[in-house]
Amino acid sequence: MRRFMKSIGAFAVLAVVAGGISQAVAHHSASMFDFSKKQTLKGKVVEMRWVNPHVTITLNASANPDEAPAEWLMETTSPGNLTRVGGWRRDVIKPGDEIEVTFHPLREADKKQGLLREMKVLSTGEVYPANIRDQEKPGLEYGWRVRSPFRLSRSLTGAIAAAITLAAAPGFAVDQPAPRDTIFARKILMGAIDMNMDEIETMLAPEGKLVLTDAEEHAETISTMLMAFPHLFPPATNQWKEGADRDPATDTFANPALWSNFADFYRRATEASKIAWDASRAKRPDEFRPMIKELRQRCNACHALNLKTE
Ligand code: HEC
Repeated sequence: MRRFMKSIGAFAVLAVVAGGISQAVAHHSASMFDFSKKQTLKGKVVEMRWVNPHVTITLNASANPDEAPAEWLMETTSPGNLTRVGGWRRDVIKPGDEIEVTFHPLREADKKQGLLREMKVLSTGEVYPANIRDQEKPGLEYGWRVRSPFRLSRSLTGAIAAAITLAAAPGFAVDQPAPRDTIFARKILMGAIDMNMDEIETMLAPEGKLVLTDAEEHAETISTMLMAFPHLFPPATNQWKEGADRDPATDTFANPALWSNFADFYRRATEASKIAWDASRAKRPDEFRPMIKELRQRCNACHALNLKTE
């Protein structure tokens, strides 16, 4: 349990993004950001793209008083992760709002781009953290908000305890969990898979530092989660509809086609789980590395078929 909690609490940085799920922005592996530097900027929101797998915010700002304002791009984690990190919603900011962002800049200093750590809305003073690890520091209000009416507590254990309490409450007994709860559960699971994959890929990046035992723990966690994942697709959770208004933090983006070829979907999940398992048992870095490459290809291939982009 400890290991699992560590894994899901791990900081999500940006992965080499699965092909076909985000065309809008060229994403960067975490090692391209300079973690030794933290920069703060004030400016006006141009756009927040509240999309999977990663949210981006563009703002108009100048880094110093004698510089003309220009567009800066902030990259961050998924809508689901942000929602759980601390009260983010798709409508927390709109174009024109004044915000302050704290971020790690790209190493290529001429590029106006960064990995977001925190956003403050200046009109209200509200702060939205974008670093999941911050949540483990004492004193920071924890915001693993699933959706009202309940708010889960600090740890996964707390979350489970809350779920049990709710389930045991009179009048809550049901034959089947509500489809939206199942959808949320599988999104959390995928979000956690993504964070673990980010950790591994950060270690494998050109400037990363590979600690094989740590990387293998992440691979094992991914393997376990990928095994569980396809069991969270009862027919009632087939809810994606063309053109519907949906929130990527809570609504499903699973392609309805998935249910018409479930055997293929199930096989893909199982095979990817097996590759992650093998990677977790690799003896040497040169054995581990190609397996993770293969695993990333499996993520991408399954998404190309089964994950809707909008
Ligand atoms: C067997 C198919 C399959 C494999 C393999 C797979 N995914 Fe997914 N993934 C999906 C589906 C389907 C969804 C959409 C779930 C939904 O919205 O209901 C998804 C959603 C996601 C999301 C968005 C989560 C959210 O908050 O909605 C991320 C991020 C993600 N996957 C990352 C990964 C990574 C990283 C890997 C590889 C280690 C991976 N996936 C492997 C099928 C797969």
